[in-house]
Amino acid sequence: MAEVTLTIDGKQVTVPQGATVLEAAQKAGIFIPTLCYDKELSKPGACRICVVEIAGFRCLPASCVTEAAEGMVVTTTSDAVVEARKTILELLLENHPEDCLTCSKNGECLLQDYAYKYGARAGAFGGEKHAYPIEEDNPVIVRDMNKCILCGRCIRMCEELHGCSVIDFAYRGFNTKVAPALDTTYKESSCVFCGNCVAVCPVGALEEKAMMGKGRSWEITKVKTTCPFCGVGCNFD
Ligand code: FES
Repeated sequence: MAEVTLTIDGKQVTVPQGATVLEAAQKAGIFIPTLCYDKELSKPGACRICVVEIAGFRCLPASCVTEAAEGMVVTTTSDAVVEARKTILELLLENHPEDCLTCSKNGECLLQDYAYKYGARAGAFGGEKHAYPIEEDNPVIVRDMNKCILCGRCIRMCEELHGCSVIDFAYRGFNTKVAPALDTTYKESSCVFCGNCVAVCPVGALEEKAMMGKGRSWEITKVKTTCPFCGVGCNFD
């Protein structure tokens, strides 16, 4: 298979042709933050947190959807990159509850981790916040759309790996949300409660009801298990 060699933060790395800059960085052991990316799913390049600087490019491309090319010179920690990531995080925090202390995802939330890493703070823009009701009228999932960052991982997991397509983006602009058809609840939809959407949510928008209040993330040991709900037998962490 043809290969390309590029330089990332001064380190040379060789990857198969067709690999992305993000995959090349991961191979080189160089950290690039991601929110919408999941290696098992298609890549929409939606959140832009993975932006990098590439010599000769006039913008900061998203590394998860930019193909690595021979001789490319990539910088992942320039001032422009760090500033862009911080701004993206502050925009997300603007429409996000500030309840990390009591959120059950506290300690394993990517938004929280990155906000800390890049010094992003809520209130930088003074924008409007949603006030969606929290959905918990089903036996398995607690859904809090106020915490959703619209990364779409749950949608792609449901459609691409589980083949169900129960949820999708609904509405437009500021009102965009993830919802089953006709913006109904999970209970009223064709959801089989496999829990795979919960497993890929990077924030606290989707939580497993059985785990809430049962301990903080650092007190829990995760194991591989088989979902008992629909009989398909999906395995997940
Ligand atoms: Fe690359 Fe979201 S992780 S755009």
